[in-house]
Amino acid sequence: MYVILFGAPGAGKGTQAAILAEKTGLVHITTGELFREAIRQETELGKQAKPYYDRGQLVPDQLTIAMLLERLSQGDCARGCLLDGFPRTLEQATALDEALAQEGKAIDKVGYIQVPQDELLRRLSGRWNCRQCGSVYHERFQPPRQAGRCDQCGDELYQREDDKPETARRRLEVYSRQTAPLIDYYRAKGKLVEVDGDKSVEEVAENLLAVVEDP
Ligand code: AP5
Repeated sequence: MYVILFGAPGAGKGTQAAILAEKTGLVHITTGELFREAIRQETELGKQAKPYYDRGQLVPDQLTIAMLLERLSQGDCARGCLLDGFPRTLEQATALDEALAQEGKAIDKVGYIQVPQDELLRRLSGRWNCRQCGSVYHERFQPPRQAGRCDQCGDELYQREDDKPETARRRLEVYSRQTAPLIDYYRAKGKLVEVDGDKSVEEVAENLLAVVEDP
């Protein structure tokens, strides 16, 4: 089963993908995290992606599509996966459809997590991440038990550079301009299911799980 978790920056895609991955056994693939890791490791891909990432812009399609298809070709994705942060342009969506079609597969569902803009900014500005295990927290909405420390692995938490207000606002603009048009693309294919993301993490997870499990 191939499921896309779709939504604006801060909508809760990563938070929900982690929960769904645990409940369904599907692999969670997040292009944002693949880029952050490449940038940390200073790989060739990381060096090419960094200027775009730092400005809150999309990394060019050619690089992003190649990275994602390479990841999808790995054995753990043979049964499907949960895609978080991909696709974000029409070109990425069609490349994904074509690659899956070549193997007789297709996207099954697109869960569109809807959250109002002012709430998105509140979520991004208070987010803390664990570099070690990828867990996500919010200083008010989902605080760790001990400030600055990950509940799961105990590592130190950090705030993403691209969550600073100016860059976060730019990411939201980029989303409206380049990514939101995909809502119509998937709606036209009958794959889009809208979920109210302005509820508790648990309620959103329950509604998304119902979407994924609906045959
Ligand atoms: P990426 O890492 O994908 O960032 P994003 O899409 O902007 O999404 P976020 O990770 O910011 O938000 P999220 O929806 O996962 O929310 P989260 O669960 O963390 O991309 C970063 C960059 O990489 C891009 O700008 C671009 O440069 C590049 N990139 C990545 N993919 C690309 C692509 N396909 N093409 C080109 N470039 C690409 O939650 C947010 C906060 O809210 C957390 O603090 C959380 O605790 C809290 N929260 C979550 N749910 C709730 C809730 N229900 N109630 C209250 N708080 C909640």
